Amino acid sequence: MDRRMMVAGNWKMYTTSGEGAVLVQDVARELEAVRGDVEVVVCPPFTGLKAVSTVIEYDRVPIALGAQDVFWELEGAFTGEVSPRMLADLGCSYVIVGHSERREHFAETDETVNRKVKAAFASGITPIVCVGEPLAVRESGETERFVRDQVMAGVAGLSAEDAARLVIAYEPIWAIGTGRTPTPESANDVARSIRATIGAMYGPPAAMQMRVLYGGSVKPENARHFFGEPDIDGALVGGASLAAESFVEIVKAAAR
Ligand code: 13P
Repeated sequence: MDRRMMVAGNWKMYTTSGEGAVLVQDVARELEAVRGDVEVVVCPPFTGLKAVSTVIEYDRVPIALGAQDVFWELEGAFTGEVSPRMLADLGCSYVIVGHSERREHFAETDETVNRKVKAAFASGITPIVCVGEPLAVRESGETERFVRDQVMAGVAGLSAEDAARLVIAYEPIWAIGTGRTPTPESANDVARSIRATIGAMYGPPAAMQMRVLYGGSVKPENARHFFGEPDIDGALVGGASLAAESFVEIVKAAAR
């Protein structure tokens, strides 16, 4: 099964809209040197989506746009929220859902993740669903069970067609922004188990088509080790996505 590799940059709460426009232009320039088929996605903060999407459209850059969160209603009296319809209107084809920082600081639960996942698909936006265990779970040897529960609850109730389009990012919480990573083999074990969970829920074709990214301290130096693993289809990159050069080095590693 040929799954297209994906490298997505999560810019988190960095970059003004002007800084984002410059960053995406820099990424686009560096991408010209990349040979090979990799889907490149950038996920600026909400306030940067318009400026970045304008650059992508105007310069006809082969970069897809993603947001970092979304609400589950299309519109309504929900002060401060942003709907999938609004993201689609700005040209977003992806949205990160359930990042551990949102689960930790903003009371995101598997249930809200599931509502957001369904809402995103309903507006034609593909969710990049984040799962991953805290350190205590890793140390107790319960990682695969913990992640399986997150997946089963977070992506419940989809059609098999939507399940096949899913992107799930496995991001161990203890690896985010720490410089620590699991071994590529152990990250692949979790990725394989995620795929098996999707297979049990939606059947083998969906499991073979859906993509699993690894995230957590992915750098140009370690990316290719993760990309060499059979069940890892790319990366969700935080810190290293904020500089065009390091981000595109990771894209190059995925293109091999
Ligand atoms: P870092 O790459 O900075 O560890 O962040 C990973 C992440 O949280 C991406 O969503």
